[in-house]
Amino acid sequence: MKKINWYVPKINNYNNNYLNELIKTNFISEGKMTSRCEKALSKFLGAKNVIMTSSGTSAIYLALRSLGIKANDEVIVPNITYVATLNAVKLTGAKPKIVEVNTLTSTVELDDLKKKINKKTKAIIFVHISGRSGNFKNVLSFAKQKKIKVIEDAAEALGSKFDSKRKLGTLGDIGCFSFTPTKIITSAQGGAVVTRSRAIAKIIRSIKDQGRTKKKIGGDDTHDLFGGNFKYNDILASILLPQIYSLEKLILKAKKNNNFYRENLKNIKEIKFYKKFENEVCIWTEIICKRRDHLFNFLLKKNIKCRKIWRPLSSFKHVQNNYKMRKSYFISNKVLWLPSSLDLTSKELKRICSQIKKFYQSTI
Ligand SMILES: Cc1ncc(COP(=O)(O)O)c(C=O)c1O
Repeated sequence: MKKINWYVPKINNYNNNYLNELIKTNFISEGKMTSRCEKALSKFLGAKNVIMTSSGTSAIYLALRSLGIKANDEVIVPNITYVATLNAVKLTGAKPKIVEVNTLTSTVELDDLKKKINKKTKAIIFVHISGRSGNFKNVLSFAKQKKIKVIEDAAEALGSKFDSKRKLGTLGDIGCFSFTPTKIITSAQGGAVVTRSRAIAKIIRSIKDQGRTKKKIGGDDTHDLFGGNFKYNDILASILLPQIYSLEKLILKAKKNNNFYRENLKNIKEIKFYKKFENEVCIWTEIICKRRDHLFNFLLKKNIKCRKIWRPLSSFKHVQNNYKMRKSYFISNKVLWLPSSLDLTSKELKRICSQIKKFYQSTI
């Protein structure tokens, strides 16, 4: 049986003239093609300022830095997220304050968040896992009330909406996206920061370019901020651009995959899905399931590769570890991402569902 991967990007079905166009210009650093990506994303997201970055991790790092976050400050991070969210905080020198997640949404648990904030709390990073907003609405209004900045880690949420109009990643003070190969569009590496504030955008553009504050003719530039090289480049931009233009089509396919799984697995009592919202695009379909590891191994033997959700951050050695978070461990042991590639055929989707049914029938 042909192998079904957990997620493969779809970059080979574009008639991509942008790369040829670029090579002819003999300029491959960050330039016009990157600006075209920023403009296209800005239009797609309905966001004023979009700044391309070298990765999603650097996007979060830059977002934190642009808010002035530094050593001794505290930043709220959910216990269930990709470790990049945490690492970006640690790179600023600030202390990540880990918060329990809710089992119904696998996003930040507001009650625990309330217990973890104090005078040092400068920002909350809300992670839209798989493109879901979870209890973002409540967290956002709480943060506003407390005047704490909100950074949306929307690495997995490009195209997903908060309501019928507004896109995730555009509601907090800053939104961050990633273009690694497991995302809806990819250029191997890359990221983007989105903000309504021109002042924040200006700082980010400077920090990502070695803190350059005044550009003259090169060597005589001024670097009044502490920064680094977190730039994107036009080679990657020329690969990403046609994908940005195709986003609406890709979103439809992601929704189709998700709907197929929901419809075909709905009668298996050992499986639960997170609540569905019409505006959201779940790029990777998650199931909360019994005997998760057995199911994973069973499907692997059938040449179907899934992915287990991450370990809780609080389980890692470099994380301050006095947290007892039962719900995070529950999620970490029960959630499985089903194959979610955008070119999955209905035949493949049927094969996956039929194997999952077989597994649960055979193990009753
Ligand atoms: C939730 C989340 N945050 C941050 C990142 C980091 O993005 P990158 O790998 O582009 O640095 C990723 C993706 O890898 C992610 O899934």
